[in-house]
Amino acid sequence: MSHDGLSTSRDPAPHVDAPHFGEPPAAQPLTEIVLTPPARASRPPAPPRVEPPPAVTLSIDGAEVSVPAGSTILEACRAQGIDTPTLCYLENLTPVNVCRVCVVEVTGSRVLVPACSRRVEPGMDVQTDTERVRHSRKMVLEFLGSSVDLSTAPAAIGYIERYEARPDRYGPPDAPAAPGERDAQDAGHHHPPPDGGALSQTVEQPVKVDNELYVRDYSKCILCYKCVEACGEDAQNTFAIAVAGRGFDARISTESAVPLPDSACVYCGNCIGVCPTGALMFRSEFEMRAAGTWDETAQTMTETICPYCGVGCALELHVQDNAIVKVTSPLDSSVTDGHLCVKGRFGFQFVQNRDGG
Ligand code: SF4
Ligand code: SF4
Ligand code: FES
Repeated sequence: MSHDGLSTSRDPAPHVDAPHFGEPPAAQPLTEIVLTPPARASRPPAPPRVEPPPAVTLSIDGAEVSVPAGSTILEACRAQGIDTPTLCYLENLTPVNVCRVCVVEVTGSRVLVPACSRRVEPGMDVQTDTERVRHSRKMVLEFLGSSVDLSTAPAAIGYIERYEARPDRYGPPDAPAAPGERDAQDAGHHHPPPDGGALSQTVEQPVKVDNELYVRDYSKCILCYKCVEACGEDAQNTFAIAVAGRGFDARISTESAVPLPDSACVYCGNCIGVCPTGALMFRSEFEMRAAGTWDETAQTMTETICPYCGVGCALELHVQDNAIVKVTSPLDSSVTDGHLCVKGRFGFQFVQNRDGG
């Protein structure tokens, strides 16, 4: 405290070298300003340093491999160049383990394990191509092939050939369901096999065409859940569709099986983007296929940026005969993870409407 009662600690005298009021600060060399600019509040903070996960060593088909901890068996297999079949797995979705076509043998495990979701463990002994694995994959593919129309599912058709699956050995297909018949099945009620088991029961039913943008052909649905995941927690958080029914009657449905325009659907089309079988299809593709004009060998794909808003989603424009026929987004896009909104996915007609109509 000074003799006049003022606190010097709260009002310290300026340093002798400090500029007085109105004086310019001491000159700072230009190179110093350029090379070491003062920190700006608007500069984003440096990301925290992330330590790489420790390596886990395991055996795959007799070979010792090391992969980052937290990897799945599928990722470890892919790193070794082993082509493991998958149907319900997609890089941008949470694994749901429902198709079981990816199963492998793990020593010490009583049952086959799904490679797409099981994490590697130190010392794990994995066999990917044993008789038991091949037999299990073949059975899964035969059940799917005997009950579902896989004509627009090239991956599944390839697996059927690879594992020499014979869906036809379950007999000729039963008659298709009438419109709405499968939607009305009672949960838990088991129907006797058609014709005493001589016919193979199928999910064949009329295509649902109830809006201008996309169709739902559940004769082609393998119940992989990908559309449910994309419509729900993994992307859109709209929850317009879910699995209804149980057992063979299980099916993808809107709430109370209402038509899409009456449902919670916002027409983002993210379900179409992940569907592996063509069960969900752009209306444009559906109509061109029906007319016999759909020709993927005559299509080009152009990457661009969505013009509608500032997010700048990555778009892939599929073009045939100088017209956009469908729009997708790359799975590895850091902006979209393969998902879009209704404008980016379906709002392309204005590009082609050159008559101003
Ligand atoms: S279009 Fe979007 S909101 Fe509609 S069912 Fe598909 S994922 Fe859900
Ligand atoms: S409609 Fe497609 S994405 Fe959805 S469960 Fe069926 S096959 Fe999978
Ligand atoms: S891909 Fe693994 S269970 Fe379907």
